[in-house]
Amino acid sequence: MSEFRHDFDKLKRLPPYVLAEVTALRHSARANGEDVIDLGMGNPDIPTPPHIVDKICESARIGRNHRYSTSRGVPNLRLGASEWYERNHGVTIDPETEAIAVIGAKEGLSHFVLVTIGPGDVVLAPDPAYPIHQYSVIFAGGDLRHVPLSPETDFIESLETAMARTWPKPKLLIISFPANPTTQVVDLAFMQRVVEFAREHHLMVIHDFAYAEICFDGYKPPSILEVEGAKDVAIEFVSLSKSHSMAGWRIGFAAGNRDMIHALTRIKSYLDYGIPTPIQVGGIVALRGPQDCVTENVAEYKLRRDALVEGLAQPGEGQWKIEKPLATMFVWAQIPEPLRELGSLEFSKRLLQEAKVAVAPGIGFGEGGEGYVRFALVENTHRIHQAVRGIRKFLRSAQP
Ligand SMILES: Cc1ncc(COP(=O)(O)O)c(C=O)c1O
Repeated sequence: MSEFRHDFDKLKRLPPYVLAEVTALRHSARANGEDVIDLGMGNPDIPTPPHIVDKICESARIGRNHRYSTSRGVPNLRLGASEWYERNHGVTIDPETEAIAVIGAKEGLSHFVLVTIGPGDVVLAPDPAYPIHQYSVIFAGGDLRHVPLSPETDFIESLETAMARTWPKPKLLIISFPANPTTQVVDLAFMQRVVEFAREHHLMVIHDFAYAEICFDGYKPPSILEVEGAKDVAIEFVSLSKSHSMAGWRIGFAAGNRDMIHALTRIKSYLDYGIPTPIQVGGIVALRGPQDCVTENVAEYKLRRDALVEGLAQPGEGQWKIEKPLATMFVWAQIPEPLRELGSLEFSKRLLQEAKVAVAPGIGFGEGGEGYVRFALVENTHRIHQAVRGIRKFLRSAQP
């Protein structure tokens, strides 16, 4: 072994990656030939619509598309983003100054935090939350403060409390609704309060809008940019990963405040040469072409949600009552008594070993997630029915 050892403070500041334990167990179960139904990671299984794939392939065969692209996105992609806002939210976005392409919401968000936040800058983010909302702040050297998030607490009041107790004053707030993992949704009045709060305290807001289009039962999530004055304080990230099943291609966009878009444009111009051109072309087709695929994806996620929630709620032994989420591709479930005392990590391990179903333990999303698990709706309804049978059998007999 080499005598040289290297230590990296930033990596040491990252919280332990608890999802890794369940992932390792799932790998070894599968390596042993066991049939595990994987509802752990939010990795969409629905293939990208053929008309988008065809266009990407066609574009990949053209030599000039093999050159470096532009990191802020080709004009038609930014135009597609602007049309998306007009069509879905009645918001006008200038494709030149208020929109940028990103290599998925996760990349864009992380680089935005990296360029705007430095050591000592305070950032507010909910707990529980999608992990990158916290990790991005740690990588940037910022000072992360958690704000509790649950349907029982008034998030804006919690923000007021956090603001009053925090010094130096926070610079940035990171939110995301519909939320992963909690599936919590909000209305426009909520967004208005966020914008008002941010304007009053001179705070920047990132809204991660990854589930903008994955919504059910007549609910439609608001964009923060629908709020008057939001463009003074906010930037919003939209992803094609779920709505258009393009997760592996890595494409999305951000829109909002010009200075904030400009900051992201600057850092990206130094760090990347842009999404490969054929994928940008795929993104243009996704945004500007027919949208039936989005409707079909939503219908499929709804069927899966219903299969899981209704299957577990059937009266009888092993019943598990969970509220149906109005959005996202997840189901967020409080662990039933008496097994709650196991904690979400141990419960998830037992569910994997005994029911052959992989889920994400709530603790992996922050302390506020303890006592819950998250199901990702990334297997078909047939497999979800199978998962329901396994889970109910497990719940019938399991002891803490
Ligand atoms: C809240 C949230 N933001 C961002 C992402 C990642 O999106 P993208 O694939 O566009 O990077 C996810 C994926 O699970 C997510 O749940």
